[in-house]
Amino acid sequence: MSQAQLACIVCEKKYDWLELRYACDCQGLLELVHTDPALHKLPALAEQRLLSRKNIDRSGVWRFREAVLPLPDSMIVTQPEGQTPIYESPVLNQWAGQSRMSLKHEGENPTGSFKDRGMTAAVSMAKRLGMPIVACASTGNTSSSLASYAARAGLKAIVFLPAGKVSQGKMAQTLGYGAKGLAIRGDFDDAMQIVRDLAAMGRVYMVNSLNPYRIEGQKTIIWEMLQDRNWQAPDWIVVPGGNLGNTSAFGKAIEEAYNWGWITSKPRIATIQAQGANPFYRSYSKDFAGLEPMSAETIATAIRIGFPVNFPRAVRSIRNTNGVVSEVNDVEIIAAKTMIDRAGIGCEPASAATLAGVKKLVKQGVIGSEEDVVLVLTGHMLKDPDAILKTQTLDCVEIDADVQAITDALDRLP
Ligand code: F0G
Repeated sequence: MSQAQLACIVCEKKYDWLELRYACDCQGLLELVHTDPALHKLPALAEQRLLSRKNIDRSGVWRFREAVLPLPDSMIVTQPEGQTPIYESPVLNQWAGQSRMSLKHEGENPTGSFKDRGMTAAVSMAKRLGMPIVACASTGNTSSSLASYAARAGLKAIVFLPAGKVSQGKMAQTLGYGAKGLAIRGDFDDAMQIVRDLAAMGRVYMVNSLNPYRIEGQKTIIWEMLQDRNWQAPDWIVVPGGNLGNTSAFGKAIEEAYNWGWITSKPRIATIQAQGANPFYRSYSKDFAGLEPMSAETIATAIRIGFPVNFPRAVRSIRNTNGVVSEVNDVEIIAAKTMIDRAGIGCEPASAATLAGVKKLVKQGVIGSEEDVVLVLTGHMLKDPDAILKTQTLDCVEIDADVQAITDALDRLP
């Protein structure tokens, strides 16, 4: 018997885990349910694997493979991904009014964002299912990651991007790895609908986070962080919210780790949205009465999403972890990003919503200043160089290559 099944999160109908489908017959979202009875022992195995020299063992995703996807090792497409660091910064603690904050930097994955964790899973499944063309809608990180993993697997990648709304760094990466790009005259949500339609027609294999296998890979952000903390759960995990794949994956990761006895307390999830792209926050404010799609606008282009497809899974994550949803405006995002950059850590704007969110939630008394908080930085600083060049006064002046002119200029420095 297989060690996993696909299950509908609404009506609980079960399907074979290798069945090619993105939703239940009732249209509910699907998730993988793991039934391997030995999963309570996985932390010890994951620890041993860190001593191995094999990529598949050291990968921050596949060292937990029995609880990710029960695939044969030969099917796994890994770079390897994960193994991302946890930073501490007294300067950032002080800025946020917090004393026990740390930052797990998922921007230090192979293509510069957390997406690699979901993509290694989804592209391995595309290979397993024999799907030659993989596709996604993207604000730029999913497309970069897909382009890279598809190239590694020898698959054809097609990406649908909102025209004019993807940062230069992400655009260059996506095309550089060899994906075919289609810039849609519309926003991310329009692009998402097109990929869903094409997938329903059987033209492409869709690897957006609606795809349940993507969520399985992204769970390991939490597990790797917990492993690095000797399975001592923090009080809070803070993450930016766009299409809500991470919020969904984090809730599942926490639930499973708790049910399998890996941790004895559940951290609370705080999802932070940009004010101009805040449908999840608005719904949370009405006790999740429903989701009202909106036309989204924010400087954090990665999370410029008005109709998050993972909404039902994400609601469950917030409810099951006694979590909260908050919002921050673009000015707050850029202020937090500047702090993270100048702390020597760096991240892209969407990631900085976390720090801005912590500052706000500490001020509101929701997060205690002594509580143990882990922020997840989702993307690398170089993903969006324009966000720095446009908002910082450029501390670099052009000058003659003349020692006297230069020493004079140095003397004038503040
Ligand atoms: N942070 C970054 C850097 C992202 O690229 C994304 C999503 C998010 C946060 C939001 O994560 O969707 O799981 O809530 N980027 C997608 C993309 C939409 O196409 O690259 P989420």
